[in-house]
Amino acid sequence: MTAALVGITILSLFIVCGLFALVSVMIGKQKTGVPFLPIPSHLLEEILGALEIAPESVFYDLGCGDGRVVRSVAKSEPRARALGVELVFFPYMLARIRNFFHPVKNVVIRRANFNDISLSNATHIFLYLFPPVMDALLPKLESELRGARVVSCDFPFRNRAANRTILVKNEKHRAHTLYVYEF
Ligand SMILES: C[S@@+](CC[C@H](N)C(=O)[O-])C[C@H]1O[C@@H](n2cnc3c(N)ncnc32)[C@H](O)[C@@H]1O
Repeated sequence: MTAALVGITILSLFIVCGLFALVSVMIGKQKTGVPFLPIPSHLLEEILGALEIAPESVFYDLGCGDGRVVRSVAKSEPRARALGVELVFFPYMLARIRNFFHPVKNVVIRRANFNDISLSNATHIFLYLFPPVMDALLPKLESELRGARVVSCDFPFRNRAANRTILVKNEKHRAHTLYVYEF
């Protein structure tokens, strides 16, 4: 009897958490125009290669989701500063929880709209966003960045040519393109 009660309680908790996550992601998509869709982990090495983070780098993942990119960058260069900016509560909490249980000391996760924060100290930025959001972000990047590298996964800026594109292809996964921009 007690075991059944515990089982029902755990199941209910899972259902409530699942529903909460689903609703949060749906509201997030409404709010930002981009769903929470984490980058496939097998791309992380390629992203790090495209970014070329140095000890003095200041890296931003604009819309950091669960924090996987910002954490990889921070681990790859412990002297760099790595900031993840996420507006939606559920992915933001995932990123914070990950960093709580597996701390990476040069990572900061901020809950904010990336349109409202200054990016003037950024040397490297990663984006995995949709085209209309990219279009809206471009003027801000052009006015605030001085000598920064921006890497966007799968979605290029429609009004700016990439300096380099990297096709990531292997037999196991679908192909992805990294667009590299120098600002
Ligand atoms: C496709 S996911 C990418 C997550 C992460 N960058 C990755 O590659 O795993 C895009 C994320 O950007 C967030 N986002 C979209 N617009 C935003 C904004 N204006 N400010 C902060 N976060 C935003 C969404 O909530 C979503 O979690």
